[in-house]
This record gives sequence, structure tokens and C-alpha cells, in this order.
Amino acid sequence: MFELSAYIKKQNQQINVALEKILHDSQLSEPITEAMKYSLMADGKRIRPVLCLAAAEAVGGKLQDVLPAACALEMIHTYSLIHDDLPAMDNDDLRRGKPTCHVAFDEATAILAGDALLTLAFQVLSSVQYTDENHSSNWLKVIQIISTAAGYQGMIRGQMLDMASEGRHLTVDELKSMHALKTGALIEASLLCGALLVNARKSQMEILKTYAGKIGLAFQVTDDILNVEGNPKVMGKAVGTDKLREKNTYPAILGLEASRQFAENLVNDALQTLEVFDKKADPLRALATYIIERKR
Ligand code: IPE
Ligand code: IPE
Ligand code: MG
Ligand code: MG
Repeated sequence: MFELSAYIKKQNQQINVALEKILHDSQLSEPITEAMKYSLMADGKRIRPVLCLAAAEAVGGKLQDVLPAACALEMIHTYSLIHDDLPAMDNDDLRRGKPTCHVAFDEATAILAGDALLTLAFQVLSSVQYTDENHSSNWLKVIQIISTAAGYQGMIRGQMLDMASEGRHLTVDELKSMHALKTGALIEASLLCGALLVNARKSQMEILKTYAGKIGLAFQVTDDILNVEGNPKVMGKAVGTDKLREKNTYPAILGLEASRQFAENLVNDALQTLEVFDKKADPLRALATYIIERKR
């Protein structure tokens, strides 16, 4: 029987060692690198890098083949959280169990730490040592996938919609596309990059894209649900804030029970799409269920 918590623990250790090394190479004594490290090395779930590694594994690859991509994804995600928490956006004080970056440092440092993590991600992706099995063309494609997912056609667009729709009602379809952009895009990129770097077949990439669409949406629906009924101590961030800021969320539009059912259906669909994969996709199967059952 596959043990997900042991798997996540092991992958997180390797991701954290790799992230520490990247930061260590960039002079930790300066305030900007202190702020980058403060947010990056805080207690995040590392779900995007873990999905990237699990996708590579599902098609027969190894951790070493994709580790720089996994790190870049976590750096971009952390940057998005630092900026998401700023007073000009969600104005949150607590993240990953600690004061948010702008509270612990100051707003200017938080903005710059976010910018620095975003650019460092692309520095890492473009500094990989290429070999015969590790083609430069694959890494170029990864840079294209991640920059598109994180940029104005992806995550940034979702964040703009999120801010612009505060206080007014979206339809369920509009909410779905907002969630797919603000959260789904980077999750999809994580899976596609993991698979691509270990030379997945086109048909495998297509299946993983469908899986990603389902679990990406389920992930944000669960984030919405936890903002209503989660325990802030366990989550390491505030709850009740979406309602306060009149955010468009699944619980606000469908109610809690229907939102839970919706997320569960998405995960069942995601599991079905993986049917053609063998046991090597067990981590992806377990991660799909974890995404809706998590308490943080
Ligand atoms: C929170 O992401 C923001 C969303 C996109 C929902 P995570 O729930 O993955 O946050 P960390 O990385 O564990 O802190
Ligand atoms: C965050 O979404 C999405 C990104 C940072 C791209 P939320 O604002 O809903 O996430 P939390 O609840 O603050 O983690
Ligand atoms: Mg937000
Ligand atoms: Mg937020």
C-alpha cells in the first residue's frame, strides 16, 4: 500500500535541500536574501514541486531529472504568495505559520523579495547543465510553459480577476475560469514540466493535462472551503478573510456541501484519467485525494 505522508516527507526533504543550496549560492547576509529565505524556507506544503516529481516518476523518470524545475516552481509560487499577501492585494498578516513577508520586513522588501524569487527561478532554469539525455530544448520548453502559466495569460490574469471581482458576483463559469488561472495554471505547468523533462509521450502529456485541470480546480475549491471552516493554527494562515473581503469563492456561490461534492467529483474524474498509467502513478493518485482531504 502506497504511503503518501512518507512520500511527501521524503520529497520535501530533497526539495528543501535543493532550495537551500540555491539560496546559499546567493549571499545570505544581505536583507533581500534574508527576506527571500524567510518566505521560501517557511513551512509550505511544496505541493507543486511534489506534483512535478510525481509526474516525472509516473512516466518512469527520476528526481534528479527534474529537480531544478521543481525548485523554480516553488520559488514562483512563493513569490506569488508574498505579493498576494501585500496590503494592496489580500492584506494578510499570517502565512505559513509566520508573519507575512511585508510584516516581518517591510513592503518594499517584500515586493523586491517576490521579484527576486521570480527572476531567480528563471536563472535556475536557464543554468542547467545539459547532457545527451538532458536536452537543452526540453529546458527551453519548460521555460516557455512556466513563464506562460505564471504570466499575464495565466496566474497573473487570475489574480487580476480575483481583485477586480471583489464585492461583485461572478457566475459559476466565471469563478471556474478565475480559479483555473490563479491556481490551476501553475499546477498544470508543474505536472507538464515533470513529464516533459523525462520525455513523456504526447498521449501521456495529454492525460496529465486533464488530470491537472481537475486537481488544480479541486485544490482552489478546497482552499476556499478551508477559508470558511479550517483551523488557522493548522493552516498557518487566517480564515474567514474571503467573506470579509467579499471574494468570489465556491462556498460563497454554491454553499459548503455542494462545494465539497464538486471537489470530490473533480478528484474522482482525475483518478479516472490516470487509469491507463501503471503503479508508478500511485503518488499522483494519492496526491489527488490528499488535495481535497488536507487540513492545511
Ligand atoms: C496557497 O497555496 C495559495 C493557493 C494558490 C491556493 P498552498 O496551499 O500550496 O500554500 P503553501 O505553499 O502550502 O504555503
Ligand atoms: C492565492 O489565492 C493565489 C495566488 C497566490 C496565485 P488566495 O488568495 O485565494 O490564497 P490564500 O488563501 O491567500 O493562500
Ligand atoms: Mg488572493
Ligand atoms: Mg490570499
